[in-house]
Amino acid sequence: MLRLQAPLPDRYTLATPDQLETMIREAKATLGSKLLILGHHYQRPEVIRWADMRGDSFKLARFAADNDQATDIVFCGVHFMAESADVLTGPHQRVILPDLNAGCSMADMADLDQVEECWEALATVTDIERVVPITYMNSSAALKAFVGRNGGAVCTSSNARAVLDWAFARDDGVKVLFFPDQHLGRNTGYQMGYGESDMRVWNPHLEFGGLAERDVKEATFLLWRGWCSVHQRFSPEHVADFRAAHPDGVVIVHPECKHEVVELADKVGSTERILDWATEAPAGAVIGVGTEIHMVQRMAAEMPDKTIVSLDPLVCPCSTMFRIDEPHLAWCLETLVAGGLVNQIEVDDDTAEWARVALQRMLDIT
Ligand code: 13P
Ligand code: SF4
Repeated sequence: MLRLQAPLPDRYTLATPDQLETMIREAKATLGSKLLILGHHYQRPEVIRWADMRGDSFKLARFAADNDQATDIVFCGVHFMAESADVLTGPHQRVILPDLNAGCSMADMADLDQVEECWEALATVTDIERVVPITYMNSSAALKAFVGRNGGAVCTSSNARAVLDWAFARDDGVKVLFFPDQHLGRNTGYQMGYGESDMRVWNPHLEFGGLAERDVKEATFLLWRGWCSVHQRFSPEHVADFRAAHPDGVVIVHPECKHEVVELADKVGSTERILDWATEAPAGAVIGVGTEIHMVQRMAAEMPDKTIVSLDPLVCPCSTMFRIDEPHLAWCLETLVAGGLVNQIEVDDDTAEWARVALQRMLDIT
């Protein structure tokens, strides 16, 4: 999805790191408690140090929902997170994304037209009242609203199991349409005891998702063909190499990794859980992590008594998370101090109303 970020004024692009630090510190001090900076674990170190609250996407959504005091919430993360924060905050609160091009390639793999088309196609071969749509947090507000309107819920990597348990508790014979991340859906399905024969992948670029009518009838999980390019890089060979080099090491991965990787891991969880497990590990522990590199490097730096490495020595950062940098942050904050506003993320009222229903179901379930 194209989101055009205008070039920054020279004041920010030409500033030295020291000047940027001063700008941000002074603007934060001036704005005081009217400002809340939220930072996702994947943010680069120069940015995350300014966050008032850090977390995975679930924790950050809760922070946004629970904070009534701040009038301006600057979200150092990606577009879908800022949209969710806008949906969950009050009308007196504004959400700002420092760089509009900070999207999520996985979220962009499913759009409303495609999902509506899929839904209509499914309705021709199965009782659509018994299909529960579940969208991963990494999706547009329009998809969250679709899910809200159609009796489903949002989930994140930290509560996908609980949300799917909720969906299946609704009725016998329920099917789940899970989008956009096939891996989180598949990994959670396996964790719940389902097998490959219970799952089918819906490819939105093929006629009828590339499936036959019988596939839809037999499947319990219809998994959207989406993925995260950062997490899909991790392979069973990476785990094998790590284990060969560190026989006593522990492997922790994010559930956006492929199932072949997840089944070889010792622990699987959201970014917050990965951080907790690494923190709780005893001194001397050796941990191989399958997630975004900035987070892995930060854990390694903050826990020097442990050896924390990326499972993939060549892993690249999340390029969209990486778009948030100090020049953009300084620009947003100084604009607020001057009484202006840039990069506000606003979800229209109708979409927000239904997206809130889907997000609130998730918050109530977990
Ligand atoms: P978490 O909810 O685990 O923070 O994951 C968000 C994400 O985008 C991982 O790629
Ligand atoms: Fe999206 Fe992957 Fe980046 Fe997470 S790591 S924000 S899923 S592209």
